Amino acid sequence: MNRPKVYIAKKIPSFVEEYIGKHCDYEMYDNEGRISEETLYEKIKDTEGLLQSGIAIDQKLLDRAPKLKVVSNVSVGYNNFDTDAMKQRNVIGTNTPEVLNDTVADLIFALMLSCARKVSYLDRCVKEGRWNMMDDKSFFGKDVHHATLGIVGMGRIGQDVARRAICGFDMNVLYFNRTRKTEAEEKLGVRYADMETVLSSSDFVLVMTPLSSDTYHLIDEPQFRLMKSDAIFINASRGATVNEKALIKALQEGWILGAGLDVYEQEPVDRENPLLKLDNAVLLPHIGSATEKTRNDMAMLAAENMVKALTGQVPPNIVPELRK
Ligand code: DGY
Repeated sequence: MNRPKVYIAKKIPSFVEEYIGKHCDYEMYDNEGRISEETLYEKIKDTEGLLQSGIAIDQKLLDRAPKLKVVSNVSVGYNNFDTDAMKQRNVIGTNTPEVLNDTVADLIFALMLSCARKVSYLDRCVKEGRWNMMDDKSFFGKDVHHATLGIVGMGRIGQDVARRAICGFDMNVLYFNRTRKTEAEEKLGVRYADMETVLSSSDFVLVMTPLSSDTYHLIDEPQFRLMKSDAIFINASRGATVNEKALIKALQEGWILGAGLDVYEQEPVDRENPLLKLDNAVLLPHIGSATEKTRNDMAMLAAENMVKALTGQVPPNIVPELRK
């Protein structure tokens, strides 16, 4: 029987590589850093499967890979898929939902706590020997417990954040979502409100909506203007759900108190980005799912999705826009 040929465009754990090797002939990118476009196009010219994360799967790429049948993302986000172009070519696209939910929710709490209690900022002060030089008041933060958390985008991760907020921190949770989540309301005690109410009444505003043409720059200047002056803004979805220029202005001019970010409009962040100079911004390098266990689980799920698609089975995680 002919074994499908696949390309793995990012390093994956050896047990996942072995699993793919049982079912497919493969080649794997094995260098540090991201693969160049030139190398990628050369490698995919006669492969049926591609496993990767964050590579734009657009018309240009599809034209270079005429035999491609499946692209498997090692991520839950799939804004890198041009789903119209993939549909036209009958290329399946899959992602890795569920396995990362708790890990990302933990990280969101790390950002909330770090911003509210100035953890990163004060860590820098202590290490730089500035403890004695500081006024007691400059250590003061903002309480997380019993505060109001507003979640924009109440998907699976949003619900795991809400559970932590309610069960662990006695917070009130408001949310806005395109479709109302009545089950989450009953199960968790979260309350639905319109976007304006969520933005204007929350002490912490979390954006957790997927990036699409509908959510591009969903949070822009008018939305920051609605927030409380002591609000903390958290983004762990995709950078472009927020107009970063407006966010920088909001932080510089004190429309809001602070921000915790895991994602940016340009990644890695440009060294000249004004965010890097702001003490009231806590910045992480897109590590929402970055624990060893979760990244292993994601790689394995992505591999299973790809192998199933190439061996006559229906992969469980075809992204909604590409389901038949
Ligand atoms: C994802 O899987 O889309 C997350 O952004 C990874 O951290």
